[in-house]
Amino acid sequence: MEKTNVLVVGSGGREHALCLALHASPMVGTIHCVPGNAGTALIAVNHEHIPVSNQALLQLAETQQIGLMVVGPEAPLCSGLADACAATGLACFGPVAALAHLEGSKLHAKETMAKAGVPTAPFLKLDADSDVEAALNSFSGQPWVVKRDVLAGGKGVVVTADRSEAKGFIEASIKSDGFVLLEAFLPGEEASMLVIMDGNTFLPLPASQDHKRVHNGDQGPNTGGMGAYCPAPVVNEDVHARIVERIVKPMHEHLASEPVPYRGVLFIGLMIDDKGDPYVVEFNVRFGDPECQVTLPLIASDVFSLLNGAATDTLNEAELVIEDAFALTVVLASEGYPNAPVKGRSIEGLNAALSSGSYRSTWVNLAGTAELDGGYTATGGRVLSCTAMAENVQLARSKAYALLDSLSLEGGHYRTDIAHRAIKRENC
Ligand code: AMP
Ligand code: GLY
Repeated sequence: MEKTNVLVVGSGGREHALCLALHASPMVGTIHCVPGNAGTALIAVNHEHIPVSNQALLQLAETQQIGLMVVGPEAPLCSGLADACAATGLACFGPVAALAHLEGSKLHAKETMAKAGVPTAPFLKLDADSDVEAALNSFSGQPWVVKRDVLAGGKGVVVTADRSEAKGFIEASIKSDGFVLLEAFLPGEEASMLVIMDGNTFLPLPASQDHKRVHNGDQGPNTGGMGAYCPAPVVNEDVHARIVERIVKPMHEHLASEPVPYRGVLFIGLMIDDKGDPYVVEFNVRFGDPECQVTLPLIASDVFSLLNGAATDTLNEAELVIEDAFALTVVLASEGYPNAPVKGRSIEGLNAALSSGSYRSTWVNLAGTAELDGGYTATGGRVLSCTAMAENVQLARSKAYALLDSLSLEGGHYRTDIAHRAIKRENC
């Protein structure tokens, strides 16, 4: 069988998860990463000094005879990496810039949903001429949801019951960006659905649930995500069917009809209300982090074939088989994360955890971790996550926490309640 060399762009836990899934495929040759991290270094060739620019990546792709580029984060997609690949005929998993704009601009996402008839919260666009007090009145009675129309790394959204905080954020955002969105608060339970798609077809992966707040019980500031599990029982068969019918199908129809169809994964951030009706909170044009770490391992069929199929409009030829199991991951974060993470501290026990771990059983996903003199140090806010797969969520949870207990990082912190919603449902 002819093997394909793959270039993975990015440096987080998500990219380590992508490399692990690709490494498990007999169809993959050498995996290259730009820049990669200490985890990807174990199974791929990292190119830490190559910049994440379209030109440098295409040049590397040529010298390393890359057959597929897999783009982890949104920024290179918004900067036209997929367009540049298309121009040279290189298969790229990730949409062209015009479609990546779905994540790059919340206003564009709202307008697209309106065109496609996809359910989402009603909103107002406010600028310097708007009557802010009247707008706040029109959405009163629930917390206010204010969204900047920029890629703000998770810092562009404020959800608050404090009117003066909402007003202050609106005014500051109008001043810096020219306008801001005020949208109705959606009550319910959040879930993430990752849908792999190309110009011909789409394949929804099982829904997962992230834990965005830093502390147990969903308290404290927002983070990039402190842990996740998959599948999330809030998305039962009936809810799943509604998501596909009301959101995935119309979005795919729209995205497939664009001049260059969407080739990659559409991340749908959902709110499921108490009647089981789904609403879109946000779209991302990439795998979620840490959702990716718990979704890819559940794919029992070949992940390379899915990614390559989507990149080449042959997704209809790829097989998707989902394991009847649960995956769960718990993030270990540095002291001070998410505000001012302390970096440079050593992580004890990681060598042993890496060598005893085994993919699709119990293993470590590395993120802000660097290898140093045979050991490992923390170089970022989210340092690593411990992941496990098992026949039920309780078992996956205890295996993941047992692995985490074998590690130590001075000042490091993590949530102890990952999957609390699933476990509450089970106990009901
Ligand atoms: P976003 O960046 O759009 O995903 O928003 C960040 C977080 O804010 C989401 O994960 C939700 O927890 C919350 N959020 C955003 N929009 C709404 C909404 N309309 N109603 C309730 N919560 C929301
Ligand atoms: N876990 C949420 C995200 O990747 O945006």
